[in-house]
Amino acid sequence: MSVKCAIELGIPDIIHNHGKPMTLSELITALPIHPTKSPHVYRLMRILIHSGFFAPKNTNENDQEEVYVLTESSRLLIKDNPLSVTPFLLAMVDPMLTTPRNYLTTWFQNEDLTPFDMAHEKTFWDYGGDEPKFANIFNDAMASDARLVMSIVVDKCKGVFEGLKSFVDVGDGTGTVTKAIADTFPDIECTVFDLPPVVADFQGSKNLKYVGGDMFEAVPPADAVFRKLAPSVGKTATCKPYKRFPDKELHGTYSLDGSRQQRSGRRATTYYPGETGPNPYSGSGTPH
Ligand SMILES: C[S@@+](CC[C@H](N)C(=O)[O-])C[C@H]1O[C@@H](n2cnc3c(N)ncnc32)[C@H](O)[C@@H]1O
Repeated sequence: MSVKCAIELGIPDIIHNHGKPMTLSELITALPIHPTKSPHVYRLMRILIHSGFFAPKNTNENDQEEVYVLTESSRLLIKDNPLSVTPFLLAMVDPMLTTPRNYLTTWFQNEDLTPFDMAHEKTFWDYGGDEPKFANIFNDAMASDARLVMSIVVDKCKGVFEGLKSFVDVGDGTGTVTKAIADTFPDIECTVFDLPPVVADFQGSKNLKYVGGDMFEAVPPADAVFRKLAPSVGKTATCKPYKRFPDKELHGTYSLDGSRQQRSGRRATTYYPGETGPNPYSGSGTPH
């Protein structure tokens, strides 16, 4: 909550825009706060220093007051940083996600699946479907995290993707991960796969397309299946009430209830019950 307060008061940007280490009194003067609260800024800054978001930069032992600079962590919170994770941080402390924490003890004592279900009387994903405001906050949060992660992945892990012809990110939301792969590797056919309402308003381009569906039913076949923070437990019409996404998929092979993917080298093949049903995402009448 201290970091949330610091972001909302604009502290990272104020110190950044100051252009040099900032004294406590300079900070207090710049902050949009009531004068009666000025004595409390020192305490707020102490806790943020303790958790690594700011650092004291006193050069002189006789300094009368603290002087603050940004750290690597708070640099990720300033507005003009393209890799800012402020949306992610603010979403994680949104009351929609913090309220369920008050249900943890009761959750241990009953059969409910998650504290979120208890607090909001619906699943997380149903909640997002019903509350566009929260869905937008959450999607922006995921996109900001994905921008940071993918800036490293496409730089340091290029070899993992070289030679692939197709790629699908299962549960990529608005498609930040897949766009980064599509832009970096123009020869890979890339698919963003997510729940239909999430991808409904997005248009593909060149080597990027959006496909809506439920990953607990089937996923589009591809040389590589990528998952980042995608749920491993879901509720579908055919599974009662919840089904785990099998752990093995991280190793390239997994099976769903009634369907399975087999891999041969980098090629993944999807089969359906009795190996007779077509893959709804393949565009052809036979499994492949
Ligand atoms: C925590 S977000 C992660 C988003 C993205 N992978 C990232 O890391 O930035 C989980 C995503 O899974 C999607 N999702 C949830 N249940 C799904 C399902 N049954 N089938 C497909 N996607 C699903 C959500 O809509 C959401 O976009």
